[in-house]
Amino acid sequence: MKNLSVFYEWIAKFYDLLDVFYFCNESTSPRKALEELVPEGEMHIADICIGTAVNSIRIAKKHPAAHIVGVDRSKEMLRMARKKLNKEGISNIKLYYGSADNIKIEDNVFDIAVLSLVLHECTEVQARNILKEAYRILKADGKLLIMEWEEPRKLFRRVMFGIIRRMKPKEFENFLKMDMKEYMRKNGFEIIKMKHCDYSRVLECRKVG
Ligand SMILES: C[S@@+](CC[C@H](N)C(=O)[O-])C[C@H]1O[C@@H](n2cnc3c(N)ncnc32)[C@H](O)[C@@H]1O
Repeated sequence: MKNLSVFYEWIAKFYDLLDVFYFCNESTSPRKALEELVPEGEMHIADICIGTAVNSIRIAKKHPAAHIVGVDRSKEMLRMARKKLNKEGISNIKLYYGSADNIKIEDNVFDIAVLSLVLHECTEVQARNILKEAYRILKADGKLLIMEWEEPRKLFRRVMFGIIRRMKPKEFENFLKMDMKEYMRKNGFEIIKMKHCDYSRVLECRKVG
């Protein structure tokens, strides 16, 4: 993950192009699918590894009553996020610099935790530690929303997916083959909904145990 930290400092300015190339079709976009899983009302939401805040900005606009906290360990990704929040006049997202495996927030406070495009880059131990933190900060009836890459079937999409594949660490290949039900259960969550979207899937999980 050390090299990835450098990678995000460097790529931050261009990061949002990902959505232009991979998630631009609104009706099949995983961003939209994730946003739709957030209920109305004064939800407390943690966007763990928020990056440039693509998901949170969508949620904040759709749910102005939501209170969103985002954490990331890339100063450049956070800088880009902050720039977007200022430009769009969004005040219900607070950004914090920090590590996802040691979030400086007390237990059981969030209704929703979001982990988007994070787990595939993690070793088993890193993923376990991040999911442990997600579990800890969520209320007993809180939901964890996960957006993750999924290998597409159509030829053109497979070629496009190959570009992503080349940029990813070796953990990516194992992640793609993983039985997500088993993976989540081992980490204290049960998948209650799964939606296949462009190049990705979106999971809604609840705490178990
Ligand atoms: C692929 S980006 C995803 C950003 C955003 N969640 C999205 O859906 O576009 C991964 C982000 O996770 C952050 N990240 C990775 N490991 C982290 C860790 N242990 N603690 C905090 N941030 C981390 C990176 O800095 C980067 O911004």
